Amino acid sequence: MEMGALPKAMFLIFLLGFFMPCFQATDSSEGSFSFSDNFDIMWAEDHFKTSEDGQVWYLSLDKNTGCGFQTKQRYRFGWFSMKLKLVGGDSAGVVTAYYMCSDTGPERDEVDFEFLGNRTGQPYTIQTNVYKSGVGGREMRHILWFDPTEDFHTFSILWNNHQLVFFVDKVPIRVYKNTENPNDFFPNEKPMYMYSSIWNADDWATRGGLEKTDWKNAPFVSSYKDFKVDACQWEDPYPPCVSTTTQNWWDQYDAWVLSDSQKEDLGWVGRNLVIYDYCKDTERYPKLPEECSISPWE
Ligand SMILES: *[C@@H]1O[C@H](CO)[C@@H](O)[C@H](O)[C@H]1NC(C)=O
Repeated sequence: MEMGALPKAMFLIFLLGFFMPCFQATDSSEGSFSFSDNFDIMWAEDHFKTSEDGQVWYLSLDKNTGCGFQTKQRYRFGWFSMKLKLVGGDSAGVVTAYYMCSDTGPERDEVDFEFLGNRTGQPYTIQTNVYKSGVGGREMRHILWFDPTEDFHTFSILWNNHQLVFFVDKVPIRVYKNTENPNDFFPNEKPMYMYSSIWNADDWATRGGLEKTDWKNAPFVSSYKDFKVDACQWEDPYPPCVSTTTQNWWDQYDAWVLSDSQKEDLGWVGRNLVIYDYCKDTERYPKLPEECSISPWE
């Protein structure tokens, strides 16, 4: 991949949003961010740790339990970003997830990044998925162009009323479009929390469940830092996050479509890294879901 083709426009848009004064948006700049100001532990407090300076967070999984955290706030539309370093070595069966979700009920909306561990030396798989009102089945799977266990890499979600874009280090790996038809499968009504967690999924995750978690290697630890949110923070009872007000950068044209260099990058990802796409799975979907007919290039 050529570095020159990296999406500069996205970066500019991002900076613009960052410096534009906007009372609805919350932004947390690097360094000044405290875990407890922004997150709660969901379960297994004793499986959570931070670095001494509080800037790096560790979630661990052992035979007893995994662990997870979630934002205190909910958001509707914006930019969500985190640096993750995944469990190294033999991580088969272990899933680290980084996702947005409206609540835990059966009618939930959800946008997922899931990192499926593997045997030592075998590639991690990223699975992404989208749910609306409890209906998912929109999986894509990618391999990466680097080893995600060696260093921190940035995983981000851009969300507005036109598209959801999944980014890895500023490279868009997936675009999920709003068809804007009634009853479509684009989550755009419910505000969502941001979550992350680690758990044992050796019944399905690695080679379809054939590879089991080897508990001799426990605890399995994934690391996090630099959470950034530049988004509309939801406030009950009156929702301020209305996409018809175009003062937010993510509600403007440049954030509704990819830039030219982002399109190039997405094309490269599509040719080289996609290992599963539900929109190509006509065995599973004899009639493909309608969003599959919208080009991510438009
Ligand atoms: C794990 O490695 C195997 C062998 O290379 C590969 O087929 C598989 O897709 C990888 N990932 C998962 C999650 O099974």
